[in-house]
Amino acid sequence: MNYIGTRSKLKKYGQLHVLDHYKELDGAGKKALLAQAAGIDFEKVLSLYRHATGGEQGDAAENNFSFEPLPYTDKASLPAEKLAEYEKAGADIMARGMFAAVTMAGGQGTRLGHNGPKGTFDIGLSCHRSLFEIQCRRLADASAKYGRTIPWYIMTSRENDADTRAFFEAHGFFGYPRTEIRFFVQNMLPMVGFDGKIILDNPGHIKEGADGHGGVFAALKSSGCYADMRKRGIKWVFVGGIDNVLLKLADPVLVGFGEKSGAPVAAKSLVKRDAKEGVGVFCRRNGRPYVVEYTEISDEMAEARGADGQFVYGDAHILCNLFSMDAIGDILENADGLPYHAARKKTPYVGADGEIHTPDKPNAFKFESFIFDAFGRFDDLAILRVDRESEFAPVKNREGNDSPETARKMYIAQFGE
Ligand code: UTP
Repeated sequence: MNYIGTRSKLKKYGQLHVLDHYKELDGAGKKALLAQAAGIDFEKVLSLYRHATGGEQGDAAENNFSFEPLPYTDKASLPAEKLAEYEKAGADIMARGMFAAVTMAGGQGTRLGHNGPKGTFDIGLSCHRSLFEIQCRRLADASAKYGRTIPWYIMTSRENDADTRAFFEAHGFFGYPRTEIRFFVQNMLPMVGFDGKIILDNPGHIKEGADGHGGVFAALKSSGCYADMRKRGIKWVFVGGIDNVLLKLADPVLVGFGEKSGAPVAAKSLVKRDAKEGVGVFCRRNGRPYVVEYTEISDEMAEARGADGQFVYGDAHILCNLFSMDAIGDILENADGLPYHAARKKTPYVGADGEIHTPDKPNAFKFESFIFDAFGRFDDLAILRVDRESEFAPVKNREGNDSPETARKMYIAQFGE
């Protein structure tokens, strides 16, 4: 699209400021900005902004939802024979090459504030293993144990794709067979200031953010990774995040549990630490499996306790999910896709003065779809409640809870330095 066409499109959506510094850009910069604007669905962005600010019917409708707890299986209470049965079933699936792992590493890691893809972060172990290497070792161990290399699909974003690939190249793919690792890129959406204006992160560039971990399904499809999985005869796909240093990417117990449950999707949970912990919790919403995010749960629901003194909605979703290939196929067939949520983020922006400003409090919406919004498509979801100490040590914040320091301690307690 040329300058005139772009200008009238931006005008229509109240975004003319995007061209405020156009004249100061060189030829390549001008071309790049016009190309970026041409690729943006402004109608969609406007609708997401209106939804976030209550201008369209949105989350208020949640008041009409009915919630109830979703049953779970407590791994710690399983008889040894049952556990062995799950483990054997899962091991069998892995040995037959019917299992794949997906790592979602397209996030911005804003809270951690690391300069580079989050997966390249070193939590300070004496061996200086990165988050990517920690996950790779898990997969390599399982591949060796079950005699089949597990295909590993890594989701990046346009923002961090090149750096992620370069990091793997520089580290020789950590010794993992190169042909068994595939990178795929998720979609992005512009970030919008609380005043409705699209953010520029430099005078010739619109700030876009990855469209949430729910973007994994569309990206698996558009990249050809889903077709690749089908071709390989994959039956179960583990989908997890990059930032939990204790994540078991290839856990035969979970795979066997999923297989034996008859449910199309299985997930691990753990008991939330306290009512305010920043995790989503499993439940049924209007009878369907659902996760209420910590940013969206009511105090009443977060704090509710049963007669036994336990949280009624105490099973935290830890981004540790296992999808059957049929479930992914089903999600992909849903033309409407997943809903978007608006996260409030602190993001540097170009002010009216043409300078880049760094805000000290959130200033913009980032629109994200959540992987667990896909759960509602299914009648059933099999939940395996696991133990926090052995399975969950996320790296979210620079310090305090869920920081490199807490994750490092938990990692060392299990694996040593
Ligand atoms: P978080 O929601 O914790 O986001 O992602 P984040 O990017 O790591 O950190 P903040 O919120 O900006 O501080 C949980 C997992 O989902 C992935 C992340 O990379 C992480 O592994 N994710 C998140 C994506 O792959 N894409 C996204 O768009 C969002």
